[in-house]
Amino acid sequence: MADRKRILVTRDFPPKGIDRLRENPAFELTQWERDRPMTGEELMERAKEHDVLLCTLTEKIDRAFLEECSHLEMISQVAVGYDNIDVEAATELGIPVGFTPDAMSDATADIAFGLMIASARKMFYLHNTIAKGEWGYFRPRGHLGMELSGKTLGIFGMGRIGMKTAQRCRGAFNMEILYCSRNRKPEAEKELYAGFVDFDTLLGKSDIVSAHCALRSDTRYIFNRDAFERMKPEAIFINTARGPIHHEPDLIRALENGEIRGAGLDVTDPEPMKPDNPLLFMENVCVLPHVGSGTKEARDEMSAMAADNIIEFYRNGRIPHIVNPEVLSG
Ligand code: GLV
Repeated sequence: MADRKRILVTRDFPPKGIDRLRENPAFELTQWERDRPMTGEELMERAKEHDVLLCTLTEKIDRAFLEECSHLEMISQVAVGYDNIDVEAATELGIPVGFTPDAMSDATADIAFGLMIASARKMFYLHNTIAKGEWGYFRPRGHLGMELSGKTLGIFGMGRIGMKTAQRCRGAFNMEILYCSRNRKPEAEKELYAGFVDFDTLLGKSDIVSAHCALRSDTRYIFNRDAFERMKPEAIFINTARGPIHHEPDLIRALENGEIRGAGLDVTDPEPMKPDNPLLFMENVCVLPHVGSGTKEARDEMSAMAADNIIEFYRNGRIPHIVNPEVLSG
C-alpha cells in the first residue's frame, strides 16, 4: 500500500503498543535492531525515510535535526519528560509531539520512596561492604541511619509523580508534606494537608527534599550550591526527575562538607554516570541508572499510550496526550 505511514521505532519498546501498530495495515514499522541508541547521524539518515518517530529520551531531537526532518508528520515520545526534544522548534515546524504522562507515576514514586529509605539507612553502601568482605561484627553504634517517621517531606514540583510520592510518605511515615510548585495543588492540600511554600521555605524546613519537576530553563541546576547551603545538615536530597535539575559538583561538595546528610538519585548529569564518580562511594548516597519507569506495568502502558497517540492522530486528527496542542488547533 503506497500510502502506509512509515514509523521509525527507535528502541526495543514492549510489544503492547508496538504490536498494535504492526498489525494495523495503515502503518509500516521499521524497528532499530541494536540494543544501543542510534547515533545522531543514524537517526537522521533513517528519519528521512519515515513519516513518524516513535522515540524516547535517548534520541536528541534538536532544532537542527527537526529543520532537516521537517517532513515528519508526528513525533510520539515514549516518556513523560520530553527535554530531549526542542518542542518550540517542532511547534514552529508544525510537528505535533505526543507523550505518555501518568503511565509511570506509580513506578517513579516507588523509586523516590525507595531511595529515601535506602539513603537514610545507607543500604547500597552496606550491601557493598558485605561484597568486600567487611561485614565484621555487630557494632552498637556502627552505621547508624535516620528514621523517616514523622519527618517533613518537601516536594519540588507537585505534579502526578510528586503527588504519588507524597501519598506514600504520608501513608507510610505520617510525614508532614510541604510543596513548592508553579501551581497550587488543592487535592494535595485537602488529602495530605500539604503546605504550599516558597523555595526557600521548602529548603529550610524539609528533612527530605524530593525533586519532581520537569527540566526547563528555570529548573536547570536549581539545586545548586546556594540551595544545598540552605538545606538542613540532616536533610536528604532525592532526584528522580532529570539529572541537570541538580548541579552535580555542588551536590558532591555539599555532601563532602556535611551541608546535607545524603542523596538518592535515579538521574544523573551526565548519563550514564562514570564508574569513578565520588557519589558512588559515599555512605549516605544511593544512585540508580534512571530506572524510575522501569516496571513491566509502566513500560507496557507507555508503549500502549505512545501507539494510541499515533493511531488516534491518523484516525481522527487528535492526539490524546500531546505536548504542543496548538499545532493541531491552528
Ligand atoms: C522517564 O524519565 C520519563 O520521562 O518517562
